[in-house]
Amino acid sequence: MQAVKVLFATSEIAPWVKTGGLGDVAGALPPALRALGVDVRVLVPRYPALAEAFPEAKEIARLEQPGGLLPHAAILEAHAADGTPLWLLDYPAYYSRAGNPYLGPEGHDWLDNHLRFGLLSRAAAWLGSDATTTVWRPEIIHCNDWQTGLAPAYLNYLPGARAKSIITVHNLAFQGLFGHAALYELGLDATAWNIDGVEYYGYLSFLKSGLRHADWITTVSPSYAAEIQTEAEGMGMDGLLRTRGGVLSGIINGIDPDTWNPATDPHLPARYDAAKLAGKAANKAALQAELGLEPNPDLPLLGIVSRLTEQKGLDLVPPIAEALLALPAQFAVLGSGAKEIEAEFALLAAQHPGRFAVRLGFDEPLAHRIEAGADIFLMPSRFEPCGLNQMYSLRYGTPPVVRATGGLADTVIDADADKQGNGFVFTEATAIALQAAIERAVAAWRKPARWARIRKNGMTRDLSWAEPARQYAALYARVLATSARKPTT
Ligand code: ADP
Ligand code: GLC
Repeated sequence: MQAVKVLFATSEIAPWVKTGGLGDVAGALPPALRALGVDVRVLVPRYPALAEAFPEAKEIARLEQPGGLLPHAAILEAHAADGTPLWLLDYPAYYSRAGNPYLGPEGHDWLDNHLRFGLLSRAAAWLGSDATTTVWRPEIIHCNDWQTGLAPAYLNYLPGARAKSIITVHNLAFQGLFGHAALYELGLDATAWNIDGVEYYGYLSFLKSGLRHADWITTVSPSYAAEIQTEAEGMGMDGLLRTRGGVLSGIINGIDPDTWNPATDPHLPARYDAAKLAGKAANKAALQAELGLEPNPDLPLLGIVSRLTEQKGLDLVPPIAEALLALPAQFAVLGSGAKEIEAEFALLAAQHPGRFAVRLGFDEPLAHRIEAGADIFLMPSRFEPCGLNQMYSLRYGTPPVVRATGGLADTVIDADADKQGNGFVFTEATAIALQAAIERAVAAWRKPARWARIRKNGMTRDLSWAEPARQYAALYARVLATSARKPTT
């Protein structure tokens, strides 16, 4: 049987360009699919970090868009170390900038994000249409989040489409909303401006466009797939998602077993695994020293690595921080995002030197050292499509305290409720409920035999991409086998 040809279109990819979990997924899922025989290539903008990492990349195509207002751009081919082909979309005026993929150095959205990700979406659709000049032609365009959400719409509205499309929702909160004028700037015509097209409450929504026009919709956990079809969690898209419920499924993320492996992690001062946990204590001591925390092995160390946004529920921490410090306990926090949350954490650090350590910013090596050095990991998210950090903490023998939502509910089992328990789960999004769960975790931590069992349950769980990748491969086959190219909603 011929391998299915899939173009995985993404706005970020680890280890080169990453602001959150989408980067991790884009770095790890394509190689896992290739291991199963899926012929997958990744389309990603040629940001400075990628231009630097792959100076030898060769031009393989030039995007021609007669009539379109988007510029002509080039596609360069490179290969990741594992062999995954990377198709780098080159248009320096859009992508060769300092800052992250979405924000300028001042922390504001780039004003031309609709054009930057419109071009990415358009390039994906072009590769999946008769117009492409490439020899390799994808049968499926696998889109990810709003940044590539316009690709299914382009496939729908422009002539010559041959590929089918799938969109994976990593986060429904980011909907890619732009004014009406964007319609024309993006080369779409007036017929697309309606409730069954790209229009969403007076805006053009990239995400809605993808959800409306893709042949299949996935999201990154079964629980989140159910949640987003409810009014409470659907962020205004639930009606559409319910309509499309027959072509919507949840596939949990995996983790990259090489990048996130405490037995080989180059960022750690000491390595360890489930059979030999001794190195974990050395990581805790080193982390305490690195962050200026009191060097005391008998204080439970609570770790947080997160984008600091409303989604992550970290505003629940400051109100209970004093009570938790009095348990006693220590905190190691790494994060960046909302200025108010950053300020609250900075204040706690100033008030409790030696007990509450905060590093504001994005620091991948320190993220690894917190996963390894903390005793307990906190993830009190209000909503969490999948969440990778709780899985990293399971693998690193750092049982997580999580709220029962989305992928957290699908990966963490409460140790007080179940012998297979690998963490602690609470339900209400309140500071009191979080505090109670942390107190249960600390009580378990004080009982070494019990703690060892909880840790082992987490460390030995299969969190790899093997099974999720198998589910994606089966989905690709299923979508290709259905004859109608257009959704029948
Ligand atoms: P999300 O994608 O919603 O941010 P995930 O848990 O899926 O949440 O993934 C977050 C990823 O980003 C993880 O790999 C995590 O380690 C990383 N991360 C988040 N904030 C930081 C930070 N400040 N420094 C380093 N890594 C971070
Ligand atoms: C998003 C979600 C997170 C998920 C990640 C990767 O950023 O917030 O829960 O793990 O995407 O799918």
